[in-house]
Amino acid sequence: MASTASLRLPFAVRPLTPSLGAEISGIEIAKGIGPDVFRAIYDAFLRYQVLLFPPQDVPPAAQVAFARQFGDVQVHVMSMYHADGFPELYRLSNLDENGRPNGEHPDKGTLAWHTDGSWQRITGQATIIYGEIVPEIGGETHFCDMYGAYERLSPEWRARVANRRAVHNLDFSRTRRHGKDLMTEEQKREKPPVEQPIVRVHPETGRECLYLGDHAEYIVGMPYDEGRAMLAVHPDLTYEHRWRPHELLVWDNRCVLHRATPYDPATQARVVRRCTVLGEAPVGRVSP
Ligand SMILES: [Fe+2]
Repeated sequence: MASTASLRLPFAVRPLTPSLGAEISGIEIAKGIGPDVFRAIYDAFLRYQVLLFPPQDVPPAAQVAFARQFGDVQVHVMSMYHADGFPELYRLSNLDENGRPNGEHPDKGTLAWHTDGSWQRITGQATIIYGEIVPEIGGETHFCDMYGAYERLSPEWRARVANRRAVHNLDFSRTRRHGKDLMTEEQKREKPPVEQPIVRVHPETGRECLYLGDHAEYIVGMPYDEGRAMLAVHPDLTYEHRWRPHELLVWDNRCVLHRATPYDPATQARVVRRCTVLGEAPVGRVSP
């Protein structure tokens, strides 16, 4: 990868925590981003794992165009969420036809720590969320650095998880546990459970990280409860983002977990547009 150290960057980078996250200011996404500048943004994405772009107008087409610079964009199997005219965008909204909060949380599955697309063979690379309307209270997005989580494992735990695989299942995480918007038989056939390595080697940085999250229903060859208890999130490895309207966040699903925090869907409006870029099938480190 070409170094961008000598390039005069047209943006400023402000780290958000010691372990992950950076604010990128000076970029107007809607104007389009040239290849050199995009390369520098991508370098920051690999280094900081989560990028925050401060409030700006990003129309749906510009969000999709930006996402396509990261890679192929996913069209989600749950088609009722498609934003008008853009099947690449998944709109989460709790507004009724009069534009008032309807009291329903549109996707409770997002409240648990997870990584997007781990329930399919080709998993999510970047997720790009734009906040059209954000709650004044709650509705934050939290991130956890899973490189750091792996590095903190004791040698005993590293040995325990080495070469193990987890079964990730969208039907389990998104629908079966809270009983709403159940997947149809056809959707289940289209997205059967998949096994993924627990210790994932990031395909671009080469670093190892823990790859788990709430789509992981159980660990192959391990008692169910023991496997589910393995997901430990370290408060000092997290970045907790409190949204301002019209911010855009990008994160690397290969090495961070994320979750949304609750808000009152009867009094607080929340409308966000999400776009997931597809990456690759996760690869584990084969340990002796
Ligand atoms: Fe998510």
